[in-house]
Amino acid sequence: MKGIILAGGSGTRLYPCTISVSKQLLPIYDKPLIYYPLSMLMLAKIRDILIISTPNDVGNYEKLLKDGSRLGLHIQYAVQETPRGLADAFIIGEKFIGDDSVCLVLGDNVFYGANMSRILERAMASIEGGGASIFGCFMKNPQEFGVVEFDEQRRVISIEEKPKKPKSNYAVPGLYFYDNQVVNIAKNVQPSARGELEISSVNEAYLNLGQLKVTLMGRGVTWFDTGSPKGMHKASGFVKTIQEMQGFYISCIEEIAWRKHFIDDEQLRRCGEELKKTEYGKYLLSLPKNEEEPT
Ligand code: DAU
Repeated sequence: MKGIILAGGSGTRLYPCTISVSKQLLPIYDKPLIYYPLSMLMLAKIRDILIISTPNDVGNYEKLLKDGSRLGLHIQYAVQETPRGLADAFIIGEKFIGDDSVCLVLGDNVFYGANMSRILERAMASIEGGGASIFGCFMKNPQEFGVVEFDEQRRVISIEEKPKKPKSNYAVPGLYFYDNQVVNIAKNVQPSARGELEISSVNEAYLNLGQLKVTLMGRGVTWFDTGSPKGMHKASGFVKTIQEMQGFYISCIEEIAWRKHFIDDEQLRRCGEELKKTEYGKYLLSLPKNEEEPT
C-alpha cells in the first residue's frame, strides 16, 4: 500500500501565520504539524510516501524530510498547482499509486489514541478484497466536516460534505484507505458548489458501489483538525500535557521508525545526535535505554 500526505491548500484561516509559511510546517507544540499525519502512515507500516504541496512550499517539505531514508522510508514529492480539492491527490498521484492501494492522510489532521496501529492495520486489511475504508468520529460540531449517516443497523446511508443540517454527529476524519479504483473514481468527480473535487464525493461513489466501510473511532481516540488558531492551540496543549505526564512522545517519527524496525539503534542514535541540543534529541538518545513502551 502507498501513502499520500496532502499538505497544500492556502491556509487562509491561519493568516497572518501562513502568509509566508505552509500551515503543515507550523509547530504543534514541539514538532512540525506534518509529523503527526506522517506518523499515522508509519504506524500502518506504509513506507512508500508521496507528499503533495504547493509550488511555493514543496521545497520546504523536501528540506525537512528529504528522501525519507533517515527514517527508513521512501518519500517523493509532487506539486498541486492550485487547491482543486482533496480528490485531486489521486489524480496528481496516479503514477505514484500505480496498481497499488493507497492511504490518504490530510496534512493538518492530528490523531492520538489507544491501539492506533491496530486500528490502522484493521482498516488496511478490510480493503484487501477491494473497496474503501474510512472512519467516523463523534463531534459536537459535525457541520464543519464530512458527515456520515447510519440506519438503525449502523449501515451507512449517506455521506455529506459540510451539511447545514448534519444527519448525525459522526464526522469523517482526514484518514482514508482506498483500493486502486480510487484513481478512476477521482477522475470522474465533478466540482462541488464551492468548486472543489470533494473527498466526500469519492466516498459517496464507494457507498453507491456498496464498497464503503466506516469504522467508528470511539472515545479512545482523540482527533484534531488543526485548521484554525484555536485548533492548533488545543492540539499543542494536548500534546504537551500527554508528553509531560507519560514521558512518551506523540508522533515522534524517529521513535516510530525505530519501534517498527525501519531503522536500527545506531540510526536512531544518529538522529538523536543531530538534535541533541533539544529535549526532542535527548528523548531520542534516551529511547534504547528506556523501559518497554506501555501497551
Ligand atoms: O479534517 C477532516 C475534513 O477534511 C473532512 O471531514 C472533510 O470531509 C474534508 O473535506 C476536509 O475538510 P476541510 O474543510 O478541513 O478541508 P480543507 O480545505 O481544510 O483541507 C484539508 C487539508 O488539505 C488542508 O491541510 C489543506 C489541504 N489541501 C486542501 C485542498 C482543498 C490541499 O493540500 N489541497 C487542496 O486542494
